[in-house]
Amino acid sequence: MAKRRIGVLISGRGSNLAALIEAARQPDYPAEIALVVSNRPEAKGLARAAEAGIATAVVEHKRFPDRRAFEEELERTLAASGVEILCLAGFMRIFTPWFVERWVGRMLNIHPSLLPAFRGVDTHRQALAAGVLIHGCTVHFVTPELDAGPIIAQAAVRVVPGDTEETLAARVLAEEHRLYPLALRMVCEGKVRLDGEVVHHRLTWQGDDTLFAPP
Ligand code: GRF
Repeated sequence: MAKRRIGVLISGRGSNLAALIEAARQPDYPAEIALVVSNRPEAKGLARAAEAGIATAVVEHKRFPDRRAFEEELERTLAASGVEILCLAGFMRIFTPWFVERWVGRMLNIHPSLLPAFRGVDTHRQALAAGVLIHGCTVHFVTPELDAGPIIAQAAVRVVPGDTEETLAARVLAEEHRLYPLALRMVCEGKVRLDGEVVHHRLTWQGDDTLFAPP
């Protein structure tokens, strides 16, 4: 089966991008990273992509009079590379419904919490303040409402005594790096499909389905 052409949108560090690049190196992975786009020219992830021999582009939002003009240029850039599926990986812009509708069922985001808990920013601080014992990350389809799209996959970590935002963030990030490639694989292989506002999974569950914290 032909590999799906993926566009990854970043604004910064790009560690999730690196995880996707690494996964896409496997011969049996159903996707290839066709293009990495940043809205910030200084994003470190651009160098990671270039080192891996992947095409990069900068579409700087500040250069456009409004969101729509920025998105139209982004759309042209993605179309020129034949991008079929978009992965947001630390992309710090909110899209208009116009853009989201063009990519419905084909745009994924990774968020560092177990949604629908802790939307927005500072999710690890929010989790510690709420006193949850299980935290984690979510890959979801993007809808116009921020961090509210239908869920594709989640990974959980325990919150342990003495955790700080940094220690918790590091454990969640390690799970993000496992989860995003897995979720993208599922979408590319048609194992998950967006149907209106519902995600249908075609999977066989394996193993223990209970998470306990504390263990
Ligand atoms: C990750 O924690 C991701 O969940 C959030 O932004 C962060 C991006 O990190 N959306 P990186 O740029 O992938 O290292």
